[in-house]
Amino acid sequence: MRYLPLDRNIFIENRKRFAAQLAPKSLAVFNSNDIYPTGADGTMPFRQASDIFHLSGVDQEESILVIFPNAFKPEHREILFLTETNEHIAIWEGEKLSKEGAFEVSGIKTVYWLSEFEKVFKELMSHAENVYLNSNEHLRANTIVETREARFVKWCKKNFNLHTYKRSAPILHEVRAVKSSMEVAVMQIAADITTKGFNRVIKAIKPGITEYELEAEFMHEFLINRSRGFAYTPIIASGYNACVLHYIENNATCNDGDLILFDVGAEYGNYACDVSRAFPVNGRFTQRQKDVYNAVLRVQKAAIALLRPGTYLAEFHKEVGDLMTKELLDLKLIDSTDVKNQNPEWPAYKKYFMHGTSHFLGIDVHDVGLWTTPIKEGMVFTCEPGIYLPGENLGIRIEDDLVITKEGHINLTEGIPKEIEAIEDAMNA
Ligand code: GLY
Ligand code: MN
Ligand code: MN
Repeated sequence: MRYLPLDRNIFIENRKRFAAQLAPKSLAVFNSNDIYPTGADGTMPFRQASDIFHLSGVDQEESILVIFPNAFKPEHREILFLTETNEHIAIWEGEKLSKEGAFEVSGIKTVYWLSEFEKVFKELMSHAENVYLNSNEHLRANTIVETREARFVKWCKKNFNLHTYKRSAPILHEVRAVKSSMEVAVMQIAADITTKGFNRVIKAIKPGITEYELEAEFMHEFLINRSRGFAYTPIIASGYNACVLHYIENNATCNDGDLILFDVGAEYGNYACDVSRAFPVNGRFTQRQKDVYNAVLRVQKAAIALLRPGTYLAEFHKEVGDLMTKELLDLKLIDSTDVKNQNPEWPAYKKYFMHGTSHFLGIDVHDVGLWTTPIKEGMVFTCEPGIYLPGENLGIRIEDDLVITKEGHINLTEGIPKEIEAIEDAMNA
């Protein structure tokens, strides 16, 4: 791995929290991701499935984790099955996890080779009543590819059709949403690398530079800091491009007088950072750009203050909508008649701020989490209001990553210039 070894207590703790929610006499199974093909003999870089990573730290294909808290044999309470490495694999692909290496990473003492899976699993199943199987239940999951996990679900139900099957996903959504201080420490590294990237890029911006040259500056900084790269496809959008919400071409030239919207985050150790900023191409905001920028910034600051234990996300989003409505009225982008006649399902402010304000952040950028229960200490959210004015070639979003604490929050990304003065000072230093 490129990242330095993570504290295995992260994964020991995560398993403990997951196992505590299983019904008696239950086992749960988690599979790694496949290595996806490109064409000919090519493959995509491997990205571990988030759930098995969260519970084991194993960052390798063809791995299976079984958690069985009431296993008849104590050594079977937690088991890893890994692909057996050999000389050929060692020469062509490099080192894979040994049994000792897997323990170092995960804290799991019982490690079998994958070839033993069916035999051992049959024995485990003879002692289990319930089987927790996993699937991607993210509300916006849109997967047409059959994952290794999905293939396992089919195989398991076909071969053991008299067991009671249950879903791991609701438990994981609850467990993964609350980060331990050890996980937050890893997320802080991802945030610090992202901060270094922004501090590098802010000095490179000038009229005539291209969006992809700025993307390259980020990538350079991320790679030299042991990140694998971007946590998600970056948006580097100058002028009008900032109003295309999912603009990822990053192929335009940045023009004097425009702003550039960056929505960029590094990954580190499979944890994501997610930040947005808008900087002027020539190093100085115009008065109009300042007015719109500061409106977004006021909404962001007020919204961050609302992110605290006990708040419901639905209420939070409504309150942020009210804050944005006030700013848009002051900017005269909407008027009181628009507000009076607005459709509650799509309020007037949505014309200029059409996306959500916050999402869970963690191993996945749009991390899993429960949207119907109050915010808890240890949850990590983005806060990212924006105003998009295509008619003025102007799009602004300001996004930070917040860890919820007892008293309020810690801002993981506070080192990235955000006040107009700080941005202009950094650009003109
Ligand atoms: N970068 C994706 C998002 O802000 O949600
Ligand atoms: Mn973002
Ligand atoms: Mn985001």
